[in-house]
Amino acid sequence: MLSTYSRVAVSAVRAVAVIAFFSAQIAHAEGDIERGRVLADTCKGCHAVDSYNNVYPTYHVPRIGGQSADYLIEALKLYRDGKRDHQTMTAQAASYDDQEIADIAAYLTSVVPPLEAAQPVGTAPDAATTCKACHGETGIGQISIYPYLAGQHKDYLLQALYDYKNGARQGVNATVMQANIMALSDAELDVIAEYYSRQDGLSAVPMD
Ligand code: HEC
Ligand code: HEC
Repeated sequence: MLSTYSRVAVSAVRAVAVIAFFSAQIAHAEGDIERGRVLADTCKGCHAVDSYNNVYPTYHVPRIGGQSADYLIEALKLYRDGKRDHQTMTAQAASYDDQEIADIAAYLTSVVPPLEAAQPVGTAPDAATTCKACHGETGIGQISIYPYLAGQHKDYLLQALYDYKNGARQGVNATVMQANIMALSDAELDVIAEYYSRQDGLSAVPMD
């Protein structure tokens, strides 16, 4: 039989579990793929054109087809809140509320079948050892807030890494990334970006 103390403890644990369940629901408003498909129409002028470049500095517009929904939501909110500095994308994200951002993310993640770790293409460079703990052997993140790197444009990956290094990307997660790459040389970042860009994974958003 349970003592009074354990009964209190058990119900306290249940209460915490219930609160955790509800806050998880609130934190991840369910995205609606069909609404997201309509909202994302405006994104296609850039994200559906695989060869399209950001004007300055010049690098490819990132592939976001199949990217993890949680990371997409995070990235769009960072732009909207001015913690990730990019004029075009801040303008794009500014007009959406949290529900619309969740809808867009649900659509974007659905445009390719769920990404799963595939056989590595080539061998991961030694410099990528720490990266694999979060981003996986082939750039398929272990937790949904870790962006997929697999198949991303190499020049975009490098731009992102420099942005972490010089502090242009802000937020708790950006600080984690900055700490992880601070000690790496440009040559090491180059081979890591080359490796992840060659893996099977992300794609451009389909035109229709
Ligand atoms: C005029 C071109 C353009 C349009 C239109 C555009 N984007 Fe972007 N987007 C970019 C560029 C360039 C970047 C890279 C910015 C950077 O370096 O942070 C980017 C970055 C992103 C990222 C970050 C990807 C990552 O891996 O971190 C997301 C998410 C994104 N865009 C979603 C959208 C959505 C959703 C829309 C439509 C509502 C949209 N974009 C419209 C050009 C565009
Ligand atoms: C502790 C986990 C962790 C480790 C280790 C880690 N990352 Fe990350 N990485 C993250 C998180 C979280 C983000 C999203 C940060 C944000 O919100 O800007 C991220 C973002 C990135 C991005 C931006 C992707 C995009 O679409 O814009 C690149 C590129 C990247 N990491 C590469 C690396 C490389 C290369 C290494 C190893 C040298 C590494 N990461 C190590 C967690 C990690």
